[in-house]
Amino acid sequence: ARKFFVGGNWKCNGTTEEVKKIVNVLNQAEIPSEDVVEVVVSPPYVFLPVAKSLLRSDIKVAAQNCWVRKGGAFTGEISAEMLVNLDIPWVVLGHSERRALLNESNEFVGDKVEYALSQGLKVIACIGETLEQRESGSTMAVVAAQTKAIADKIKSWDNVVLAYEPVWAIGTGKVASPAQAQEVHAELRKWLAENVSAEVAQTTRIIYGGSVNGGNCKELAGQADVDGFLVGGASLKPEFIDIIKSAT
Ligand code: 13P
Repeated sequence: ARKFFVGGNWKCNGTTEEVKKIVNVLNQAEIPSEDVVEVVVSPPYVFLPVAKSLLRSDIKVAAQNCWVRKGGAFTGEISAEMLVNLDIPWVVLGHSERRALLNESNEFVGDKVEYALSQGLKVIACIGETLEQRESGSTMAVVAAQTKAIADKIKSWDNVVLAYEPVWAIGTGKVASPAQAQEVHAELRKWLAENVSAEVAQTTRIIYGGSVNGGNCKELAGQADVDGFLVGGASLKPEFIDIIKSAT
């Protein structure tokens, strides 16, 4: 069985004080054990050390991005090696905000996933269609192309969690219905079976992101192919605990 996975993407938010507050809430929460749910929070780079040092040991941290290859003369970038050096186990790559606002192409994201894995990081790889793409009926073609760009570059999916985040659902309050999420997750699993292997399709966690909150998480979590969540806004609030608990 695939272990439930809940990620909290804090995006470009917070101050040191706010980070300490969120960490405090998480540290005091009663959540299911690590055998039942894997919990990872993703603060902005500059808060990774403080968050990591204060957080309970059963909640891990992730960076929100990293450079596409070995560090060097790339002003403003943070390399995978640096994350490894700080003992940061996870990185989020290919988030739609970076694809859209910073022009990250499918191929560039594939290269990033490949390099991050080669350095020993675990990757939350994000994919998802825009509203226009959904309305024109190209959802599956879009997410398959995004997944293929990653699959073409990597040898093992052991350290990859695939996050399906429809762009129209991110930060909009318009969560995908459980049926909509399940449909795409099942198609993605089928794509993995046909294009990678039956084993990878069976074992890879496919998590949903986009307006997940304490109220809608339970029904989404009940879908056969929804293996967890990547949460934005609600991960900054105490209701993140309820989302973690939807694992059981
Ligand atoms: P919201 O939960 O705020 O819609 O954001 C989802 C997201 O982008 C997580 O990566």
